[in-house]
Amino acid sequence: MNFQELISQRESIRNYDPGKPVETEKLRRVLEAGRIAPSAANRQPWRFYLISSIENLTKIKTCYQRNWFQDAPHILVVAGKRSAAWVRPYDGYNAIETDLTIAMDHMILAAESEGLGTCWIAAYEPVKLHATGIFDDDEEIFAITPLGYQKAGFQKRGIKDRKAFDEVVSFV
Ligand SMILES: Cc1cc2nc3c(=O)[nH]c(=O)nc-3n(C[C@H](O)[C@H](O)[C@H](O)COP(=O)(O)O)c2cc1C
Repeated sequence: MNFQELISQRESIRNYDPGKPVETEKLRRVLEAGRIAPSAANRQPWRFYLISSIENLTKIKTCYQRNWFQDAPHILVVAGKRSAAWVRPYDGYNAIETDLTIAMDHMILAAESEGLGTCWIAAYEPVKLHATGIFDDDEEIFAITPLGYQKAGFQKRGIKDRKAFDEVVSFV
């Protein structure tokens, strides 16, 4: 699959086979894509939590109450320390959110290339995530995604519902 095919085929997956954990080598390749992502001043202010134990999955899944989310065999959490990120001296802009978003996007695309489903989730309850006790107190969580195979017979929508090219691009 070339890059254009990869980004065209990726879509948010809300269907996971709970009985089919992902092979360790594939998980490691996905996480490696996050590890090598760029970050402002190369600060790498992130930590990637791949949650797979029944105990931690049970805790983490309380933060987002959707049936399909409960099925996921793995949850990937992208966390970071604001104090570790680069800050622009002119106006105090902190790059943490940009850095972690790029890392998450790298991992989501890597997962697609491994034939795995993901769905970026921002609508979780942060208090419940921190109550799991998995994360450091000074770590902020910026994105989570389920990671896994789709159930047998599941078909992607295959539709990109996007604004038209000319609506979002200006050649000036
Ligand atoms: C920052 C961000 C937050 C999102 N949060 C959620 C979410 O909480 N729940 C959900 O089901 N999908 C969530 N999504 C998925 C979007 O709904 C989805 O990417 C968008 O509708 C485009 O569809 P596609 O990913 O299938 O191309 C999120 C996506 C992004 C980029």
